[in-house]
Amino acid sequence: MEFAKRLDNVTGSAIREIFALLAQPGMISFAGGNPSPDSFPSEDVAKIAETIIRQHGSTVLQYGGTPGIGKLKETVLEMVKKRGIDAAPDEVIITSGSTQGIGLAAKTLVNPGDVILTESPTFIGALQNFLTYQADVKGVAMDDEGMIIEDLEEKIIKYNPKFVYTIPTFQNPTGRTMLLKRRKRMIDVCERCGVLILEDDPYCDLRYSGDPVPTIKSLDTTNTVIYLLSFSKIISPGLRVGAAVADKRVIDKYNIAKQGEDLHTANLSQEIVDAYVHSGKLEGHIKTLCDSYRKQRDAMQKKLEAFPQGITYTKPDGGLFIWACLPKGMDAVKLFKQCTDQGVAFVPGTHFFPEGGNMNTMRLNFSMPSIEQIDKGMDILKSVIEKNI
Ligand SMILES: Cc1ncc(COP(=O)(O)O)c(C=O)c1O
Repeated sequence: MEFAKRLDNVTGSAIREIFALLAQPGMISFAGGNPSPDSFPSEDVAKIAETIIRQHGSTVLQYGGTPGIGKLKETVLEMVKKRGIDAAPDEVIITSGSTQGIGLAAKTLVNPGDVILTESPTFIGALQNFLTYQADVKGVAMDDEGMIIEDLEEKIIKYNPKFVYTIPTFQNPTGRTMLLKRRKRMIDVCERCGVLILEDDPYCDLRYSGDPVPTIKSLDTTNTVIYLLSFSKIISPGLRVGAAVADKRVIDKYNIAKQGEDLHTANLSQEIVDAYVHSGKLEGHIKTLCDSYRKQRDAMQKKLEAFPQGITYTKPDGGLFIWACLPKGMDAVKLFKQCTDQGVAFVPGTHFFPEGGNMNTMRLNFSMPSIEQIDKGMDILKSVIEKNI
C-alpha cells in the first residue's frame, strides 16, 4: 500500500508505545496529560444532556453551522473578555478541541516547507499537526521565564516563519509560564516582522499559586494573535470543544478549512458546554480541580526535593506537568524501560523537541495519579535514577 508522503515524517510511534504500556494493570502513570478521571462533572453533564435532547432534540440531532452555535460563541466571548480579549462574534469559531484550532492554523497558513517556530520543547500534538502539513518546525530556546526572545528574533529573521506557536501559560511539557515582559517583547517582535502568533491557552484556569499573567492576545492591538481556548481541561476532553479567536479574515479561512474536516463540532457537545458554563457550577468545579491538583503537584514536588543532586525540575504555578532534567549523559529513554519494568511510566523529554536530542529530560504528569501513587511512583523513579547515576 502506498500512503501519502505528507505522513512520512509523522510517526507518533514512541508515544503510542508508551500509551500501550499504560494499559498494564497496576502501572503508575506520570505519562498522560489527561485530567483526573475522578474530576468529571458526570452527574451534572448527564442531567444537562438529557434535558437538551428531550427539549431540543430536533435541532441538536440535526446538522449545524460550521462556525458553531451562536450562544456558545457569545459564551466564549464573555470568557475571553475576562482574559483581557475583546472580540466580535465574527472573530470566533468553535473548534473540536484546541487541537483542531492548531491544525487549522497549519492548514490555512502553511505551504510545504514553510517554517513554524515553536518553543523547544513543545506540545507533541502540535508537532504532529504541523508535520502533517509538511511544515519545517524549528525550536526556539526557552528558560524558566518562557521563550527566549533574542533567539526568537534571530530565528524570525533567519527563517521568515509563517507563525510562532506558543503555550505561554503552564506550558506543555514544561509547566513554565512566560513572563509578562517577554510576552510584550514577543508581540513587539512579531508585529514588527509581520509574523502571526498562535497562542494556545488550555491551562490558564488551572492555577494553584501565583498571580495570573495577561494573555498575549490581550496585548495585541494589530490582530497578530490567533488565540485558542479549550474546555478539555476544565470540563471534559471527551466532549471535544474549544474555540479560536482571531482576525475575521483568519476565522473566515478557518471556517472554510473546518467545513471539509468535520462540518461542525458536535451540537450536543457544544450545548452541554454552554449549559454547564451557565449552570453557575463551572467556577466551583475549577476551584475543586485546582484544590486537588495543587495537592498532587505539591506531593510530586516534595518527592523531587529528595532526588539526587544534579537533577533540576520546574516548579509550575499551575497546569498538569513538571519537567525534569537529569545530569548530562543520562538517557531518559533507557530509564523509561527500567521504570516501566517496575510499574512506573513517564514520557521521555526527547519526543517534545522539534529537533529531538535532549535525552536527559522527562515530563512528569501529576493530575492522573493519586497522592498514594505519586508517593510510590516517585520513590521507584528515584531509586532507578540513583542506580543509573
Ligand atoms: C498545549 C495543549 N494544547 C492543546 C491540547 C489539546 O487540547 P484539546 O483537547 O482542546 O484538543 C493539549 C492537550 O494536552 C495541550 O497540552
